[in-house]
Amino acid sequence: MVAIHPVVVALLPLIPSALGQTCATINPVNAATFASGYEGPRGIIFDIQGNLLTAEQSSYGLRYIQLTDNGGTNICVRSQKQLVADSSLNHGIALTPDGKKLFASSKTTVYSWDYDGTTGTVGNKKTVVTGMSTSGHVSRTLLVPKTQPNVLLVQVGSNGNLDTGAAQASSGRSQIRIFKLADLEAGSKAYTTGELLGYGIRNNAGIAEDIHGGIFSVNNGMDDMTVNGKDVHNTNPCEELNYHGRINDTSSPERGKSYGYPTCHSIYDPSVLPSPFNTQLKVGDTVTNGASSSTCTRVAPKLCFPAHTAPLDLKFNSGGSAAYVTFHGSWDKTPPDGYRVSRVAWNSQTGQPVASVTNTSAAQNIMYNANNAACPSGCFRPVGLAWSPSGKLFLSSDATNEIWVIGGAK
Ligand SMILES: *[C@@H]1O[C@H](CO)[C@@H](O)[C@H](O)[C@H]1NC(C)=O
Ligand SMILES: *[C@@H]1O[C@H](CO)[C@@H](O)[C@H](O)[C@H]1NC(C)=O
Repeated sequence: MVAIHPVVVALLPLIPSALGQTCATINPVNAATFASGYEGPRGIIFDIQGNLLTAEQSSYGLRYIQLTDNGGTNICVRSQKQLVADSSLNHGIALTPDGKKLFASSKTTVYSWDYDGTTGTVGNKKTVVTGMSTSGHVSRTLLVPKTQPNVLLVQVGSNGNLDTGAAQASSGRSQIRIFKLADLEAGSKAYTTGELLGYGIRNNAGIAEDIHGGIFSVNNGMDDMTVNGKDVHNTNPCEELNYHGRINDTSSPERGKSYGYPTCHSIYDPSVLPSPFNTQLKVGDTVTNGASSSTCTRVAPKLCFPAHTAPLDLKFNSGGSAAYVTFHGSWDKTPPDGYRVSRVAWNSQTGQPVASVTNTSAAQNIMYNANNAACPSGCFRPVGLAWSPSGKLFLSSDATNEIWVIGGAK
């Protein structure tokens, strides 16, 4: 059911119900045979002790999973327990690089805890960011950058497909804000008081830091797009890879800027646009939804992924030569697309993708459903990515309640 690119040595599921199994080599198995066990796993991270932490959206909260990694694909679950019982926590999870402060989010609020990875315990829950949008996209993505570990990035998506209010940064939607941890320590902060990293980004579900401290994000574009009355939605707009400058560079050209939404949308497939756009525009150029203008002031994407594939996370490899991206998959496209993990080649010197924005083959498939016919309810739908301390790439699939490890990801 799940197909694997040759680059992947093996992959296997980690099933909590398999507790008590010995840590002998687990053979690669077929996705069809999996038992379920997790409760809608979304964001996943490793602590500095090598334990896996998950945020699970189906009224569970956070989980602490001790793994035994004997090398290669010889990994198993040694023990697991509920770390935080809170049904409102649904996606975002982040840890400071020193492994001592844990953050997790509900739709409206970010919380923090003192964290002890050795015992798998947390201190008292503290409310740190409040007042995030109550409607539309419900997941919030959190990141404490390694190159600037004294701040927390918090993302909020739009309140619907076309959120006109999100044109204003003051709406607190379709944007990423930066909070100083010292300020959060002093007391909770309203979301809109954070420093603006970028706005006009419909639903920036994945945010990652490259080896230079550059911040990249993956955005889910609008549904049901039309241009001058023509329905172009099946292959438009792009799902974008956006760049936000280096986190420590407060005067980067991208800092605090608009990426175009809800007015401007990046074109994935110019060929279906009405004249003259079909001949004038290239992949990654912009056009306004429903109207006739292609003049927009915005930060342009660095890459365009196929429409409605729903990228939800990205993570860089340790050498900075690739980013892995999860595509959760579509509903607004025929046939459905996404439901895969892809690798994007990166230039570790420049800190930018190797491919240009017009290259629609920049994302190479690594792991995908051999047949998407069972999607979206009965197939692999990847969400969160995390590198283990030993350099293996783990990922969650919320629809199938699984956690996977890709043995050969480099
Ligand atoms: C930001 O960090 C990078 C990499 O750590 C460093 O080379 C650069 O000088 C820093 N820039 C600023 C403005 O501090
Ligand atoms: C597009 O990117 C892929 C992956 O990096 C690469 O193999 C391919 O040669 C690129 N195509 C063009 C036209 O540059």
